[in-house]
Amino acid sequence: MTDRKATLSVGDKSIELPVYSGTVGPDVIDVRGLVQQGVFTYDPGFVSTAACESAITYIDGDKGVLLHRGYPIEQLADHSDYLEVCYLLLKGELPTAADNKQFHETIKKHTMLHDQMRNFFNGFRRDAHPMAIMCGVVGALSAFYHDQMDVTDPKQRDITAHRLIAKMPTIAAWCYKYSKGEPFMYPRNDMSYAENFLQMMFGTPCEDYKPNPILAKAMDKIFILHADHEQNASTSTVRLAGSSGANPYACIASGIAALWGPAHGGANEAVLDMLAEIGDEANIDTFIAKAKDKDDPFRLMGFGHRVYKNFDPRAKVMAETAHEVLSELGLENDPLLRIAQRLEQIALEDEYFVQRKLYPNVDFYSGLILKAIGIPTSMFTVIFAMSRTIGWFSHWNEMVSGDYRIGRPRQLYTGFPARDYPKG
Ligand code: CMC
Repeated sequence: MTDRKATLSVGDKSIELPVYSGTVGPDVIDVRGLVQQGVFTYDPGFVSTAACESAITYIDGDKGVLLHRGYPIEQLADHSDYLEVCYLLLKGELPTAADNKQFHETIKKHTMLHDQMRNFFNGFRRDAHPMAIMCGVVGALSAFYHDQMDVTDPKQRDITAHRLIAKMPTIAAWCYKYSKGEPFMYPRNDMSYAENFLQMMFGTPCEDYKPNPILAKAMDKIFILHADHEQNASTSTVRLAGSSGANPYACIASGIAALWGPAHGGANEAVLDMLAEIGDEANIDTFIAKAKDKDDPFRLMGFGHRVYKNFDPRAKVMAETAHEVLSELGLENDPLLRIAQRLEQIALEDEYFVQRKLYPNVDFYSGLILKAIGIPTSMFTVIFAMSRTIGWFSHWNEMVSGDYRIGRPRQLYTGFPARDYPKG
């Protein structure tokens, strides 16, 4: 596999470690043999650690590049649709026209939920956070499809992918309908994926719902831009849960839980809360100062990224889409948009942000679009989870169809050494 070696000196010991190259990106040093030498590596937050081999998504954070199966995200956002991107992530290649048609048809066959799933929704308090409901309901899918699930069978894995892609919009929209006390809307298979989602969110049984094509297109772009992002916290969680052989629906539920936090998928909700808290352009300087103050835990939500240290290519597409949506809805002068634009401008020029390479990320503008469409902030992360499900599933699928071991990190132990239980 490789004849290149890295040499590590530990005390008087010299350890040779193999070095591998991917198709693009930095080389990696294989540290697996270290444990036999009586040492581990220490890397909290996995900043310098590749935990797996993967051929799905590539990110060059310094250049602002995001590729899915080699295709740049900007080109996918411009020319593809979400279901085609799902196919690409899952299968590794863009579908032929016939395969694409077949895939769209197959997904439509799985959009309904088992009628008993209603009982799970009804068990939640009406004021429950929709992420809590989604996490519970997706986990509950494992109870419906457990016995039939053999993770070593590619056919069954395909059916699971189809079910998840098809049912997530229904689950997401029902989380919203439940919180509103409105009747659940059944999926409409004559509509596109994004149109159907909008009708399940905003339609009622009393009248016919006609989705706005510009808003449906924007929704589809949001789905595409969130579809996958390499080994982030939630994807790594899904892989780790899956490495024990757990049911894939339960693994996806673990990804939803990991996504929920404000440092990850919860950021789009946090951005809107922050913009509302800033309230007026006159207050921006105060919030910039708070973000820079090391004694203040406040951070500018929607800024910074573990990997992107130039710009987030998804943020560029999002900013353009935000303008399209807001002008379609006549909201170009929306006060929150004005605060967001001014904040972005100030932060991009401020030395603190420039030095630390803190740029707007995908969540900075996605929240504004979702709000303009009429989606409540508590649903933002739910929509992220729904879009990311294909990424999580593709990584799980890649892992279980290859060689893998149960994930089991080690630790630097700093607790007590062995001591005796006190006598008497
Ligand atoms: N506002 C102010 N300062 C910041 C921010 C921010 N948003 N982000 C990072 N910093 C500072 C941080 O204090 C540190 O400063 P110093 O070097 O002086 O100690 C420096 O920048 C490096 O930050 P870090 O915390 O070491 O970076 P990280 O890679 O561990 O964290 C992050 C990345 C995304 C969690 C962080 O930038 C953040 O909390 N951003 C706000 C939340 C957010 O928008 N998250 C969405 C991420 S994109 C969607 C997704 O993929 O889930």
